[in-house]
Amino acid sequence: MAEPSTVADPSTMDRGARAIEIRGARYVYPTGNVVALGGVDLNVDHGEIIGIIGQNGSGKTTLTKLFNGLLKPTEGTVVINGVNTAERSVQQMAAHVGYVFQNPNHQLFARTVDDELQFGPRNIGVPEDEIRARVDEAIEFFGLHDVKEEHPYRVSFPIRKLVGIASIYTMRPPILIFDEPSTGQDHNTTKIINDLMRRLRDEGTTVVCVSHDMPLLADVVERVVVMKATEIIADASPREVFADKALMARTNLQAPQSTEIALQTVVGLGGPVALTPQELADDLVGRLSGSAPASSTRKR
Ligand SMILES: Nc1ncnc2c1ncn2[C@@H]1O[C@H](COP(=O)(O)OP(=O)(O)O)[C@@H](O)[C@H]1O
Ligand SMILES: [Mg+2]
Repeated sequence: MAEPSTVADPSTMDRGARAIEIRGARYVYPTGNVVALGGVDLNVDHGEIIGIIGQNGSGKTTLTKLFNGLLKPTEGTVVINGVNTAERSVQQMAAHVGYVFQNPNHQLFARTVDDELQFGPRNIGVPEDEIRARVDEAIEFFGLHDVKEEHPYRVSFPIRKLVGIASIYTMRPPILIFDEPSTGQDHNTTKIINDLMRRLRDEGTTVVCVSHDMPLLADVVERVVVMKATEIIADASPREVFADKALMARTNLQAPQSTEIALQTVVGLGGPVALTPQELADDLVGRLSGSAPASSTRKR
């Protein structure tokens, strides 16, 4: 039977449904019979920006690969925009969920950077003039002008990673998954990734970002899911998660430095559990200048 063609068109997705709805998802890798997910429940609403943190091997990558059907759950269900991934191919899910691999080498295959950025949107049927406009815009945003005619494997690793991100972004998927986007990045490319997250937030894209980069998460996400040993053990605001010393110790993770300093200083004086250097600085300046501690920059 032919697969329904409407599935590749995000305009037909079920807006009433949640972006991501996972029930009792277990995943066992056939090789070695490794249990990578032990029965996970997770709901993500449209427009939410969530971070996933956890030690290496806790199951983060496996969980995110369920979101776009790269892996199908061994048990349980994964429903994306009302679509059960078990009933769809990865190709059909591509218009719903963009997946940026941790390692761009697992993702890039075109002859030039420019071709790479065109491939995804063409594959899901975006009109040619729109493809050109999106690619030109992405080249500008990601600063890829000097490398656009280069082979993706000839550019530096940080730039290659940006190419991987840009080549998914040009598809404008309503849900975007990042696996460790800022790993191996320099100051400049980290800033571009940070800017992209803000832009996605403004555009209402649903974002799931697996990361060890706590300052990045503290800056952009509204919700942090914590994984340990194949399970979700916490799901709360970044402020709650990063302030929970026992939780951070249990998972061997470190809160952003600004949060740690705040916990050791201003929190005891009624100040905020700062997530960013700016927030901590505002509070300290308020105290030192004798005015009421500024908390206006606290958003989440
Ligand atoms: N392709 C695979 N084959 C067998 N086991 C795997 C494979 N990929 C991951 N695993 C195992 O699954 C568990 C979860 O891994 P993963 O999802 O990659 O965690 P994380 O992304 O948090 O580091 C680990 O025990 C890991 O060794
Ligand atoms: Mg991983």
